Amino acid sequence: MPPVITNVDDLHAIYRRRVPKMFYDYCQSGSWTEQTYRENESDFDLIRLRQRVAVDMEGRSTATTMIGREVAMPVALAPVGLTGMQHADGEILAAKAAEAAGVPFTLSTMSICSIEDVAEHTTKPFWFQLYVMRDEDFVDRLIERARAAGCDALVLTLDLQILGQRHKDLKNGLSAPPKLTPASVANMMTKIGWGLNMLQTKRRFFGNIVGHAKGVENAASLASWTNEQFDPRLDWEKVRRIKEKWGGKLILKGILDAEDARMALQVGADAIIVSNHGGRQLDGALSSIRMLPEIVDAVGDKIEVHMDGGVRSGQDVLKAVALGARGTYIGRAFIYGLGAMGQKGVAQTLEVIRKELDTTMALCGEKDVHDLGPHNLLVPKGFR
Ligand code: FNR
Repeated sequence: MPPVITNVDDLHAIYRRRVPKMFYDYCQSGSWTEQTYRENESDFDLIRLRQRVAVDMEGRSTATTMIGREVAMPVALAPVGLTGMQHADGEILAAKAAEAAGVPFTLSTMSICSIEDVAEHTTKPFWFQLYVMRDEDFVDRLIERARAAGCDALVLTLDLQILGQRHKDLKNGLSAPPKLTPASVANMMTKIGWGLNMLQTKRRFFGNIVGHAKGVENAASLASWTNEQFDPRLDWEKVRRIKEKWGGKLILKGILDAEDARMALQVGADAIIVSNHGGRQLDGALSSIRMLPEIVDAVGDKIEVHMDGGVRSGQDVLKAVALGARGTYIGRAFIYGLGAMGQKGVAQTLEVIRKELDTTMALCGEKDVHDLGPHNLLVPKGFR
């Protein structure tokens, strides 16, 4: 009997059983004490919803646009590194599920399948997330490849010039490709479904960067490699240069401060993502949902404000939109679906969230996602 999936937690439980601990931990980790990671989720619970009754609920719509692109709901898939280690061909399968559900897929620089792999297997443009490396030529080539593959937005991540420490990854010796030690082999062998699945894939490791960036061909600790390759001198001038080089729609990811949001506006970004990298970088930062209202106040009438961090349900999406987010992104929630059951699992994640959003909107007395606002919420004093 296939399991009955009614929420994202169900997919999480299956994902946990299927995927080797090293990759499960990689997904579930936050940096240092994981306070920010935990609060990204728990702060959503502090916001409550106002119930309304006797409102005509026929003809509801969750459809909107994100940077001009029509989306079935204000949700996109966030860029997630090593997605192809959670499930064979993970990036391709997630992109296909997103396409079928009418939401954007964002391909990480640190993906296993390449930009070209994903383009070959999809029919709609996807978004490409760029990390800025020290090697400018390499960055330029990535931009050119994204353009050639028809990507219609560049998501430039600004909050990872250096890596926040994640204890579990260091203890597990996370590397890509995985290093074969007695402990890691024993760990992977216990996950037979995952192993069989991986055997069926083409050997794709770091498709975007193998052969393009130095030092990634050999199994390397992810942390040390990142710190060697990523550009610690990234500044607004470089953001401007990349914007010029790209020439298309630009989304700046990792904004958690009103002043940075104003800078993003000045450099001419089309949208910003209020994000703390899923609690994986600055531990101690406030949750994204807590910072959202301040940033919406600062720039929300001039630039699209998106958010991510802790979104696990349609109720979470509703709360973010009601606080002024034009769109949200899900990271871990789609990885749970992917690791649990591949493309079908990502489709299930998206369908669960869509249904929750639609029904919750109705119970709040709203028919159109554009009508959501602070009037739908009860936000505790001092929340911001
Ligand atoms: C990420 N994130 C991320 N962001 C990015 O810009 N490039 C990347 O390669 C990655 N890689 C990555 C791996 C994993 C395992 C996770 C969980 C996250 C951050 C991601 O895009 C997004 O900001 C968070 O995942 C949002 O938080 P939730 O939805 O996971 O709570």
